[in-house]
Parts: sequence; structure tokens; C-alpha cells
Amino acid sequence: MAATDVARERRIRRLLELLREEKTDLMDTTESFGPDWFTDPDLARKERELIFGAVPTIVAHRSQLPRPNDFITLTMPRNKVILMRQKDGSVKAFVNACRHRGALLEEAPAGRCRIFSCGYHRWSYDPDGSLRTITYEDSFGEIDRSKYGLVELPVEERHGFIWLVDRAGASIDVADWLGPEMDSAMAGYGLDKLVNFREETFLEPVNWKIMQDAFLDGYHIKYAHPNTAGKIIHTNILAVEDFGRHARFLSARKTLDRWLEEDPTGKSLGKDVTESHFVGPNSTLLRLPDHFELLTFRPHETDPAQCYMQMRVLVPTVEDSGLDEEAWERRWNKNWDILLAVLHGEDFPLLRGSQRAVESADAAEMVIGRNEVVNQIFHREFHRLLKEPYRPSGRP
Ligand code: FES
Ligand SMILES: [Fe+2]
Repeated sequence: MAATDVARERRIRRLLELLREEKTDLMDTTESFGPDWFTDPDLARKERELIFGAVPTIVAHRSQLPRPNDFITLTMPRNKVILMRQKDGSVKAFVNACRHRGALLEEAPAGRCRIFSCGYHRWSYDPDGSLRTITYEDSFGEIDRSKYGLVELPVEERHGFIWLVDRAGASIDVADWLGPEMDSAMAGYGLDKLVNFREETFLEPVNWKIMQDAFLDGYHIKYAHPNTAGKIIHTNILAVEDFGRHARFLSARKTLDRWLEEDPTGKSLGKDVTESHFVGPNSTLLRLPDHFELLTFRPHETDPAQCYMQMRVLVPTVEDSGLDEEAWERRWNKNWDILLAVLHGEDFPLLRGSQRAVESADAAEMVIGRNEVVNQIFHREFHRLLKEPYRPSGRP
């Protein structure tokens, strides 16, 4: 067994011990927090600036931009963004706004083009963002073209993902942000060899932190999901590794129960767990026995009571899967449909209710338990980012 597999089996053995003793990892104390966490426009503004304007977050998987001139667009908390694969294989990110009078330059969610051409007065831009043509240039008047290229945002590819800091001129260093543990964990998963089978973004009337909290939570499984996840995964049993800004947490699938009495020495129990990751500040990465799922939560541009939730399923390529194309499609479509049904039928209704409830005029302080370890890590790191704004180490 490779060293990383040995370490993983050791983590699973620790989870099995927790399951045997009906225990879960614990923080030292409970933590309280106020409803303003989900409703305060001033806090929402601070988090857009100090968190999303400083920290790299995942915006795409590399397989979404396989060839030069492929692009996707998205809404970040501070900027409308275009991501564009360049001729040399790198990726650039731009503010999706024409430099003439500010039209939304690219309206399609994704596509492929040699130039960006503005629908308002037909200025055009090269894939590298430089201003290419000014229509009726003779009458327009002279301007310094080099000053009117698209505004560039810092972007980096690492571990198969494209990461972005949502602020022009900011520095980006994904390895620094991830820290050694999370960086090497992600490096070991071969995420760059997978393909983005499908992704969808939902605009939900819920604060992004209510959503992020729900997807770090091992305490609600059998109550909120009695007929789906609750049948497959144990409730309130998590083995957590606190990496500071990030965390990895193992939950026990019910198939792990067969080792309660028996000795698993020499056996691999990887299929009996879900290995989840809080990739701070706004994502949950799930490592399932045969694929990965990534859930990303982004604040709305202005309204604390809305967010964008992005779900994507990352799977082995048809060639690597050993399935024929049709079987591969069928397999992952089915998986996708199950995920959507749980999301729309179970999580979203519950979380929309939470938002409405915390907006009550007299909603009071709430509390996170010692057993809600990953939620505590999320809340702790959120506060830290507001108090000590992040900069990549070694940079001004
Ligand atoms: S706003 Fe784009 S060309 Fe005028
Ligand atoms: Fe849930």
C-alpha cells in the first residue's frame, strides 16, 4: 500500500473506533452566534471585500475549458467574470464589462470564441483581453487603446481547479492559501484527471453561510434526510482533522457496521466512508468511493438573503471508467438526478425556512455544539478572515 493509502486507512480505523464507542470528535466548548450573521448587509459587504476580495476560491474545473478560446462566465460577489483559456494553455480572468460604456460583454454562460464583441456598439476584444477594434474609430476620437483592455483578475490553476481572487490587482497563491496539509491532500486525489460531468448554479433565497453550514453538518443527516442519506450514513459520528483554514472529515457509511465486531486488519475500508473536506472559505469537496462532488457557496452581489450555490460532479473519463459512453452517461445522469432530488426536496426547503426564520425581528442568539466541529471551524475561520485580512505569506 502507498503511504497515502496507509494514512487513509489509519484515519478510517479512528472513525471505526468512534463508531464502536458511539462517539464523535468534539470541540472544547460550544459557540454562540447571532442572527445578524445571516442578515446584516454591513457584514455581507465586509465579507465580499475582506474574504472574497482576498482569498482564492474555486470557480471552475479545468475540464470546463479544455481548448484555447473556451470561456465560461460567472457571478462573483464583487465582479461579473469571464474565464478564458489562452493560446498558451493558461487561463485568464476578466471583469465581464465593456470598457466603452460598460455593457455586459459576454452573456452566454459558456462557449468558445476568437474575439469578444460587444452587443452595444460593437467594440471587440482579443482572448487575452486587449482592445482590438473601436467601431467608427475615425469619429470616435483618439484614445490610448492599451488603457482600455478588459480588467484582469488574478487566477491560478491547481489540483485540477481554476481558482480566482475576486479583486483586480490582488495577489494569488493557492498553495499558500491551502496550507501544507490541504494542499497535499488535494494533490493526492488526482482531481486533474477527472472531468466535470455536470454543474449547475442555483440562486437561492438563503444566506451563503446557512448553506455552507448545512454541508459541513453530520448532525442533521437522519432527521433532515430520513429516507435518503440517513439510510446510508451514520448521524453524529465524524472524525475530523482541523487544518486551520480547512478541514477534512470522515463520515461512516452504514456498511462500516460489519467491522464493528470483526477485525478489519489487512482490509481496505475506503468504500465504507465518505471523506469530506471544508475547502475554506466556501466549498465542500466530497470524496465518494468512485467520484468527487464539489459544492460551492457564493454570496449574492448585494443581498445577504440570497446566494449562489454551485454543485458539480467530477468523475473519471469514459476511458478511465472502463464503461462504454452510453453506460457512463447513464451512470452519472442517475447520480446527478438523485443529488438534485435531495437538494430540491430536502435541503433547499429547510434552508429557505431557516433564512425566513432568522429574519424574525426578535430572533435571538443561537449556538453550535461541541459535536459540530467543522461548523465551528468554518465560523472560527470566517471571523479570523474579517479580523486579520488574508494576504499570501511573504507578500506585501
Ligand atoms: S458599451 Fe461596449 S461597445 Fe459600447
Ligand atoms: Fe443536508
